[in-house]
Amino acid sequence: MSSSMLSSTTSQTKIFFMGATGYIGGSVLNRLLSHPEASTFAITALVRSPSKASKLEAIGVNTVIGSLKDDALIESLAAAADAVISTADCDDDDIAKAYLKGMKRHFEETGKVPILIHTSGTGVLADRSAGYFRDVPVYIVLPSMIYGLASGRLVDLGIQNKFSSQVPQLIKAALGRGQAGMVGAGTNKWGAVHIDDVTDLYVLLFDLGRTDPDAIGHGREGFYFGINGECTLGEIGQAIGEKLVAIGRATTPEPTTFTEEEIKAYFRGSTFWGTNSRGVANRSHSIGWNPRKTEKDLLASVGPEVEAILKERSG
Ligand SMILES: NC(=O)c1ccc[n+]([C@@H]2O[C@H](COP(=O)([O-])OP(=O)(O)OC[C@H]3O[C@@H](n4cnc5c(N)ncnc54)[C@H](OP(=O)(O)O)[C@@H]3O)[C@@H](O)[C@H]2O)c1
Repeated sequence: MSSSMLSSTTSQTKIFFMGATGYIGGSVLNRLLSHPEASTFAITALVRSPSKASKLEAIGVNTVIGSLKDDALIESLAAAADAVISTADCDDDDIAKAYLKGMKRHFEETGKVPILIHTSGTGVLADRSAGYFRDVPVYIVLPSMIYGLASGRLVDLGIQNKFSSQVPQLIKAALGRGQAGMVGAGTNKWGAVHIDDVTDLYVLLFDLGRTDPDAIGHGREGFYFGINGECTLGEIGQAIGEKLVAIGRATTPEPTTFTEEEIKAYFRGSTFWGTNSRGVANRSHSIGWNPRKTEKDLLASVGPEVEAILKERSG
């Protein structure tokens, strides 16, 4: 751990950040580094790559090298923080329990109530429930299908993953089978959100949460959807197919149904991309979230995404 975190003054906001090198986390961290109040933040990121840690240190982020599997470490880092931002793993209960324990300790030791911004996903609308509530202000962001290549300083420095999961997985499968695909008839729908728009939502919650935590819904009232538009998975398949035809990697733009073998090979046997996950981001809008990109931008993002994946493979 660098010494600056330990010596930070009380006027600083100490932030414990998980997932700093990831697609979502890197985008949020990038925004915090250029935030108007950035000089008052002492950000500590838990990372597992020593080389990425030194790149982060060079741009003013304190780092601790370690794993999200280390509950005691997570607890102690959370105990030292005024705000915890969790963007690494939305499904791991042990990680959540560890930082919640640490946040409780922070309150007991300092009398200051920390805030938590945790990442979930609108996948919960498809097949399971999520969320937990403790006696600290908890804001849970549920991004839908995030799309677009992440950009900015952390990407340029080779710190951050710039790819999302859903569209890139579908592109890789299409490249593998030489034709775009879909689960079943592809008439299922997912809400979508651009990476820059969902990043705005995190920063908005962070700003509102630390100034007046009770002014906006938290805990049971603290679920914030990141959704702005929706489309069918068949439409995404079609956009992938059109790009593949344009670059000579497929002969027809129409997506066809993935076979069972393909589902096993490309999606570890999961038909998750055959689910529907739909919602309306009323609460996010009510606190001033103003996303700009819609499903048209999602479909337009597919071409550049195909090119970026091919470039990464050839490089
Ligand atoms: N992308 C979407 O559309 C979307 C939508 C809704 C919800 N989500 C959820 O949000 C979460 C983050 O998504 P993402 O797209 O940002 O994923 P990502 O790019 O793969 O980022 C994951 C981050 O977690 C870190 N990490 C993973 N395991 C770790 C471990 N054992 N120890 C330390 N660090 C670890 C990674 O570090 P390394 O760089 O070392 O790998 C990286 O910083 C996931 O749970 C995902 O399911 C994603």
